[in-house]
Amino acid sequence: MTASLGTDINHAAQLLRAGSLVAFATETVYGLGADATNVDAVAKVFAAKGRPTFDPLIVHLAGVDQLASVVATIPDAAQKLMDFFWPGPMTLLFPKKSLIPDLVTAGLETVAVRIPSHPLALELLKAADVPVAAPSANKFGSISPTTAQHVADQLGDEVDYILDGGSCSVGLESTIVSCLSDNIEVLRLGGLSVEQIEAVIGPVTLKQASSDPGKQAEESSAQLAPGMLKRHYAPNKLLVVVDSLSDIELQPADVLLLPWELVNVPKDLHQEILSERQDLTECAAHFFSALRRLDASDADRIVAVRFPEEGLGRALNDRLERASAR
Ligand code: TXA
Ligand code: MG
Repeated sequence: MTASLGTDINHAAQLLRAGSLVAFATETVYGLGADATNVDAVAKVFAAKGRPTFDPLIVHLAGVDQLASVVATIPDAAQKLMDFFWPGPMTLLFPKKSLIPDLVTAGLETVAVRIPSHPLALELLKAADVPVAAPSANKFGSISPTTAQHVADQLGDEVDYILDGGSCSVGLESTIVSCLSDNIEVLRLGGLSVEQIEAVIGPVTLKQASSDPGKQAEESSAQLAPGMLKRHYAPNKLLVVVDSLSDIELQPADVLLLPWELVNVPKDLHQEILSERQDLTECAAHFFSALRRLDASDADRIVAVRFPEEGLGRALNDRLERASAR
C-alpha cells in the first residue's frame, strides 16, 4: 500500500479519529500523527518510525483551550512564552494529565505540547478535535522531512494519508523549552532562536548531551530528549563538518553543503548553497532538503561548512553535529 497524498482535511481528520496514522505538514517539519489518547494508534507511530519507546512524543493541539484537558498546571514562564510564540515552532513541557497515555510520554510525568502555526495543521487539529501525538515523519535517526514527498519516500507504506502543505517554511524542528523549575532550560535547539526566547523571559540554560559515551548510555532513557542523542538527523553518506574549507583536503568525489557562496571553492564540485542572501532563516528552510539531495547523489562524502553560532545558526550547527556523529 502506498499512502495517498492530498489536501483533504476532513478525510485526514476522520482517519485520525479512527486510530489511523496521518502525516501532516507543519511549519517546522512534517509530523507523523496519531490520536494521542488512543494507545493503539500511538503504538503504530513507534512501529512505523522504528522508534524506541523510551523516546517520548510531542502532543499537538489546535488551540490553548485544549490545554486544560492534557496538562495539570501551567508554569508562569510557560504562560508568558505561550502568549508570545504560540502558534509557532516552540514546544513546552507541562505536568501531564491522565488523558495522555504513558506510552506518549515514555512514562514521564511531563508532556511536551506544541500548537503549530501552519494553517493546514491547525485546520486538521481543529477538525480532528483530539490531541495529536506526532514525531517528525521520518525513520528514527534519519533526515527530517520538509516536503510531503520526503514522507512518501520513507514512510509511504506505513501511513494512511499524507496531508500535503508544501515545503515547510521554518525547516527545523521546534525548540523545546522546560519551564518546570525556576531554571528555564532549552532541551532542544530549533526553529525559535534562543535570542528570541531570552528577549521575552531573560537568560535560559542550554541542556547539553553528555559527550561521555558511558553517561550517554545511562541517559538514553526518557530523561534526555532523544533529539539530543549524539547521532540523529543522519544521512547515509559520510558527513564531515568543518569551520572552513581550508581545514580539509577536498576530494573529487566530495559534494558541499554551504551556508552561502564562499570564495575559493573548487568549481568542479557540486555545491548546495542554502541562502544566496546570507540569511540563516532561509538556510534553515532549505537545510534538510539540501542534505537529502546530497545524500541521494553519487558522491562519496558530504562536506558541510558550519554556520555562524547565532540565531538559527546554533540549531543548524546542532543538527550538523548530530548528523555527522558516528
Ligand atoms: O517541530 C517539531 O517539534 C516536530 C513537529 C512534527 O511538530 N516534531 C518533532 O518530534 O520533532 P520528534 O519526535 O522528532 O522530537 C520530539 C522530541 C524528542 O527529542 C523527545 O525526546 C522530546 O521531544 N520530548 C517529548 N516529550 C518530552 C518530555 N516529556 N520531556 C522531554 N523531552 C520530550
Ligand atoms: Mg525527529
